[in-house]
Amino acid sequence: MQTQQHRLKPVTSEEDWAAYHEMRETELFHPLGVDYLKHHPDDRNPSNHPFLILADEEVVGAVRLDHRQDLNRMITRTLAIRSRRQGQGHGSAGMILCEDFARGMGCTEMCLNAHQPALPFYLHRGYRQEEWDPEDRFGSCVQCRKILTDNPEA
Ligand SMILES: CC(C)(COP(=O)(O)OP(=O)(O)OC[C@H]1O[C@@H](n2cnc3c(N)ncnc32)[C@H](O)[C@@H]1OP(=O)(O)O)[C@@H](O)C(=O)NCCC(=O)NCCS
Repeated sequence: MQTQQHRLKPVTSEEDWAAYHEMRETELFHPLGVDYLKHHPDDRNPSNHPFLILADEEVVGAVRLDHRQDLNRMITRTLAIRSRRQGQGHGSAGMILCEDFARGMGCTEMCLNAHQPALPFYLHRGYRQEEWDPEDRFGSCVQCRKILTDNPEA
C-alpha cells in the first residue's frame, strides 16, 4: 500500500478558512446538533492555531491547537476528518502531526475533550482519561491527556 504524505496546513487564506469552517461544521457540529459560529473569537486568538489536515495535498480534515504556554500544554480542539475519509488512518496521522507541533512549541502534554464515540480512538493513541480542567469540559465530553515525551515511540 502506498503511504500518503500528511501535513498540517496553517489556515491563512479565505479559501483555507472556508474549508476549515465547512469541515468542522459538517463533520462535527452538525451531527451533534450544535450551532456553528464562523466568527468565534477563539479561532483568531494568536495562541490558537487552526489547521487543515492534508493527505497528498487533499484536505481530509481540520483541527485547532490551542497553546497554553504558561502550562506547557497544547489542547486539541475539534478534530474532524471528512466522513468519507474516516477509518483510513488520517485521524491518526493528523494526531501524530499535532503532537509533533506541540513538542516543537515546547509543550510537555496534549489535552483534549473527547466526544464519547471518539474516545476509543484517543485511548488507542496513548491518551488517558484524566481531568485536566473541569471548567474547560465541553458537554458530555471526556477529558483526556497524554504526556509528550521526546521520543514519540516511548
Ligand atoms: C474520530 C476521528 C477523528 C478519527 O479519525 P479517523 O481518520 O477516522 O481515524 P483512523 O482511521 O486514524 O482510525 C484509527 C483507529 O481508531 C479507530 N477509530 C476511529 N474512529 C473511531 C470511533 N469513532 N470509535 C472507535 N474507534 C474508532 C479505528 O478503527 C482505528 O483503529 P486501529 O488503529 O486499530 O486500526 C474521525 O472519525 C472523526 O472525525 N469523527 C467525527 C468527528 C469527531 O468525533 N471528532 C472527534 C472530536 S473529539
